[in-house]
Amino acid sequence: MLKKEMVDALNKQINEELYSAYLYLSMAAWFDSIGLNGFSNWMMVQYKEETDHAMKFFNYLSQQGEPVKLMAIKEPPNSWESPLHAFEETLKHEQHITACINELVDLAEKLKDRATYNMLQWFIDEQVEEEANDREIIDILKLIDGSKNGLFMLDRELAQRQYTPEI
Ligand code: FEO
Repeated sequence: MLKKEMVDALNKQINEELYSAYLYLSMAAWFDSIGLNGFSNWMMVQYKEETDHAMKFFNYLSQQGEPVKLMAIKEPPNSWESPLHAFEETLKHEQHITACINELVDLAEKLKDRATYNMLQWFIDEQVEEEANDREIIDILKLIDGSKNGLFMLDRELAQRQYTPEI
């Protein structure tokens, strides 16, 4: 049995993860609309991973016999100034999610909730990886500096990303 404060915080995190999914789905649509199908594929994979993250919290609450409470998902933006801008916003968003995970860890420590603390360790590692992936693409986009050839090459590379279920 979990403390109510933790149940509420985990339900809020389901919403954060579903918003992340929604944001990346919106980016996938935008990249598709400007002809960058590889970038769109990368975002589509990200969208699926985020729904997995939400389901990890969902399943954990269910396993613990606690209620899942789904909340309204806010509307994401639907266009960005450039591919670089979209990825800078992605990194900013992931830094926000990292802060959310860190707050959950702090709460688990405060409540001496060892099961939740353990479950959250996967997310700590995942956030390091997600931020690193975004930074890598941002660095390449800065090097490319808007060159059509460079964008074309990167688009082909991002088309290779494949979804591997995380749950
Ligand atoms: Fe589930 Fe990208 O944070």
